[in-house]
Amino acid sequence: MSAGAAAGAALVSSAVSSRSKAAASPFTLGVASGSPWPDGFVIWTRLAPDPVAMDGQGGLIDAVDVVWEVSTDEVMGAIVARGQARADAASAHAVHVEVAGLRPGRPYWYRFTAQGEQSPVGRARTAPARGAPLSHLRLAIASCAHWETGWFSAYRHMAAEDPDLVFFLGDYIYEYGYAASRTDVVRRFDRPEECRTLADYRRRYALYRTDPDLQSLHATAPCLVTWDDHEVQNDYSADYSQIGTIPTAEFRTRRLAAYKAFYEHMPLRRSVVANLPEFRIYSRLDFGDLAQISVLDGRQYRSIQPCAVGNSRRGHVAPLTCTELHDPARSMLGQAQERWLYEGFRASRARWNLIAQDLLVAPMAQADSSGRPGAFTEGWSGYEMNRTRMLNAVASSRLRNPVFFGGDMHASFTTDLKANFDKPDSRTIGTEFIGAAVTSDPAGDSLAAAMPANPHIRYFDNRHHGYMSVNLTPGRMETRHRAVSDRRDPQATVSTVKAFAVETGRPGAQEA
Ligand SMILES: [Fe+2]
Repeated sequence: MSAGAAAGAALVSSAVSSRSKAAASPFTLGVASGSPWPDGFVIWTRLAPDPVAMDGQGGLIDAVDVVWEVSTDEVMGAIVARGQARADAASAHAVHVEVAGLRPGRPYWYRFTAQGEQSPVGRARTAPARGAPLSHLRLAIASCAHWETGWFSAYRHMAAEDPDLVFFLGDYIYEYGYAASRTDVVRRFDRPEECRTLADYRRRYALYRTDPDLQSLHATAPCLVTWDDHEVQNDYSADYSQIGTIPTAEFRTRRLAAYKAFYEHMPLRRSVVANLPEFRIYSRLDFGDLAQISVLDGRQYRSIQPCAVGNSRRGHVAPLTCTELHDPARSMLGQAQERWLYEGFRASRARWNLIAQDLLVAPMAQADSSGRPGAFTEGWSGYEMNRTRMLNAVASSRLRNPVFFGGDMHASFTTDLKANFDKPDSRTIGTEFIGAAVTSDPAGDSLAAAMPANPHIRYFDNRHHGYMSVNLTPGRMETRHRAVSDRRDPQATVSTVKAFAVETGRPGAQEA
């Protein structure tokens, strides 16, 4: 082909692409549902004909009316609820509808219509009536999805398992810029720079939501979500950047932008934003008599990280001689959330009590860089008095069958939560499961070396990527650590690496 012909072809293709852009569907980001309750749930979409438009507005300016419909069948032939919502620029044309008046404990299908186009159909599910007998609940649990380091095959396989409910336990996005020096990435972020502004975070969420595997997962089942650090910035805590020289007022502006974009892209209730600048994402949901689920926020209210080294507030292994580690005034959850959590423990009548949060709860004895006994400051071990208060509340409220789920570690864990971790033979009062990352780089082998000193950690694996599947019945929970064959293979297969059972009335995991 001559240079002139090539230039002509380029002109034609750019004309075609701008024409198709003008006519593009606004539903490029799919649909989602979440926060199910007995007579409804949240349904979500965001209109974005140009998902990663530089201004973060998704290619729209004017407000758009959006019709939503809910049906009892998947072909949308039996509409039982319908309404209209307005999508405007102030919320990046996101739509959150709290559907109510539905029947408990059954699936529903939903879709949106705007600008003459229809969204894909999503499936949601109402929770069973409060206290009603429930024989079965299936969960799929994910964390840590780095866009550049792998394809989201884990999400595809989670959707294929047809769960009743999905948990996203943090690092749903990464705020990073390009991993420029790496040659092993499978795709690039929308921009080379790290996210800092509202437009940056909006583009980042929109980019993620263009992924077909993630879209299919959201369209399959309602979700519960919490965040970890990378929804804002690596290793931040509350108002404090990981960089000690950044003023808190400046960091608060960035955090507000990141939280706003999170809300705009998640199927969350309006109550989350009812008391800004707080984003109240901690919440409690009941699933009949079978399960109560507490979703925690481990980032917004936490005390500043302990034992800072110079101007860095990043996580590190601090020697146990650091007195801040043992300061009872420090909190991971903040006073209000702690009080709410322990009141919930005392009031729960559920057979199983699931706590969905971002981090490893169990302590992990590690050596610091000088070989002294240490604690990792970024996770629960940096907030050990809060951990002790929380586990004491589990024990003293006689919470039935407590099971914690978390992410963050980029490795799979199964742990026994002990009444006293200093005494390995003390009573086990709860069980914990941490899932492998969807795609993020795995934890280093130094963690594997720490395992002999941590007998309450029953299982550790940093060789895989994937997620967790949970089958819950009144008498038994089975949790499977699921692994994809290769994060860099878009067609990766899935298998179970290890499975554990928890029997009712018997805290601690048994190999299944
Ligand atoms: Fe992560």
